[in-house]
Amino acid sequence: MDTRQANVERFNTIASEWDSDPGRVLMAQKVARAMRTALSPTGREQALEFGAGTGLVTLLMAPTLAHVTALDSSAGMLDVLRQKCESKQLTQVETIEGMVPDQLPDTRYDLIYSSMTMHHVDDVPALLKTLADHVKPGGRIALADLDAEDGGFHHEAKGVVHHGFARDTFGNWLRDAGFADVRFSTAFTVSREADDGTVQDYPIFLAIASQPDS
Ligand SMILES: C[S@@+](CC[C@H](N)C(=O)[O-])C[C@H]1O[C@@H](n2cnc3c(N)ncnc32)[C@H](O)[C@@H]1O
Repeated sequence: MDTRQANVERFNTIASEWDSDPGRVLMAQKVARAMRTALSPTGREQALEFGAGTGLVTLLMAPTLAHVTALDSSAGMLDVLRQKCESKQLTQVETIEGMVPDQLPDTRYDLIYSSMTMHHVDDVPALLKTLADHVKPGGRIALADLDAEDGGFHHEAKGVVHHGFARDTFGNWLRDAGFADVRFSTAFTVSREADDGTVQDYPIFLAIASQPDS
């Protein structure tokens, strides 16, 4: 089984318990707040979220947007998200099972955003180039993930391809993909006990960039 399929199975298995970890819920709240502050959405945006999972970020972003296509490779994670949208009557969220970068809808968006998913994707520079083709001129991208780390964030590294990303390298990848106005902030810092008993800080960056007007 390849890494991508193993990831699908892993997230299908843990989907029903995903939201019961308070650390994940807090991280999603902090990331969504940082995105909302940095983007100041108008409420008219047509958005795509990839790696939406159970919608911890989706449910906080959707009320500020006109429509969200929530894409994820795990049907199990999306089942949880759909149930939450139904119970909250969030009609502007549509779920799509699919894998980035190959299975993106043939549409351009005002905003593409994602949290904690790129470290599962093999070729991130290629992903960013594909995403650029799906952002409207003048549209924006908002991507959150781990800063480069020592591998201690995920105690078991199954399905994790990257131990975070260095901001300068990631910024260059965004510019190479055609994005402009690249800026970074720290959305949140996770503190975790390492195997040796010391407490390590793992900052989560938020990168915002825009697609130039053509
Ligand atoms: C660490 S979880 C984060 C979920 C959610 N963004 C959150 O903050 O709670 C990563 C998610 O990305 C999905 N995923 C991993 N690789 C993917 C890919 N290549 N395409 C689409 N989704 C992917 C997984 O199924 C999982 O739901």
